[in-house]
Amino acid sequence: MEYRNLGGTGLRVSNLSLGTMAFGRWIDEQASFDIMDIALDRGINVIDTANFYGKGQDESFKYGTGECEEIVGRYLKGKRNNAVVATKVGLPMGKGPNQQGLSKHHIMQQAEESLRRLQTDWIDLYQVHRFDNSTPLEETLSVLTDLVRQGKVRYIGCSNYAAWQMAKARGISELHGYEHFVSSQSQYNLLSRELESEVAPYCAAEKMGLLIYSPMARGVLSGKYKEKGDMPKDSRAAKGEELIQHYFTDANFEKVAAYKELMDDKDYNLSQFALAWTLNQPAVTSAIVGASKPHHVSQAADISDWKWTDSLKEQVSAI
Ligand SMILES: NC(=O)c1ccc[n+]([C@@H]2O[C@H](COP(=O)([O-])OP(=O)(O)OC[C@H]3O[C@@H](n4cnc5c(N)ncnc54)[C@H](OP(=O)(O)O)[C@@H]3O)[C@@H](O)[C@H]2O)c1
Repeated sequence: MEYRNLGGTGLRVSNLSLGTMAFGRWIDEQASFDIMDIALDRGINVIDTANFYGKGQDESFKYGTGECEEIVGRYLKGKRNNAVVATKVGLPMGKGPNQQGLSKHHIMQQAEESLRRLQTDWIDLYQVHRFDNSTPLEETLSVLTDLVRQGKVRYIGCSNYAAWQMAKARGISELHGYEHFVSSQSQYNLLSRELESEVAPYCAAEKMGLLIYSPMARGVLSGKYKEKGDMPKDSRAAKGEELIQHYFTDANFEKVAAYKELMDDKDYNLSQFALAWTLNQPAVTSAIVGASKPHHVSQAADISDWKWTDSLKEQVSAI
């Protein structure tokens, strides 16, 4: 496994991280434990979770319940120091007006809840899940700084921020002596490359870590979906994931078929190909793999040090 510094910090993180969004939602606790066993065994040291993740197979799931953090917390008992735990705050945890967002009220309350669910005294990377238009950034950065100074959080990061939002946050942190966001967690994969125009160059310029979510386009880049409406048994689409539907376009299915053709004679599969492409993009620190089965993690770990060739780069760009 290759380790990289998280942005400008001294924290060393594996170039593959383990995503836990499936834990307690699409897979049970034992299956989650099996996946975490393989991840730690193969040298993955980042476990990415969120207070919001969990809630069984309930299609009316609107509010986070913390189930996923609880599973991670039970798993890490006795081995906490082996993992860099990244969690998030900001999505709705209830229907009350103060049960979401990035106010001092909600962050302080949820930080304590996350520490309790994760059964830990500290969170390695505390990420704001998305920009909150209704809370001044000064308030958010001030409370995050307090948490760092109290030793409850070690580093802070943002997720789903535009480059201008990160720049604004940086200016406020510098002005007031607050903690800086050290990383951005953003979506990036062969079917969704918007981040290349602003977010990736911004992160590179400011030495921020870039943690990539959905590197396999929620599973679409495995090639398991052949057309819109195709729901292979046991896939996330079949289990009701809504956001995957954005990827179900004719143009994407054509691209997936073309990528498949490109690597047909190789001894890796399409998921590994898509993941390796992400890992080899210059601004990327770590790709967060969303495993729902143990072999998803071992296959990912198998290509963690695979170096992309110029000729493959050109062929991919052509597609
Ligand atoms: N910050 C945010 O807003 C945000 C948003 C989304 C995700 N995340 C984080 O990023 C993590 C990863 O996101 P993601 O789950 O969308 O990532 P992803 O890696 O693009 O998709 C994961 C899915 O791809 C399929 N897959 C993975 N490896 C495979 C393999 N070797 N062969 C065949 N299929 C394979 C599986 O689908 P099936 O389960 O259908 O088999 C798996 O659930 C999440 O767990 C979460 O921690 C953050």
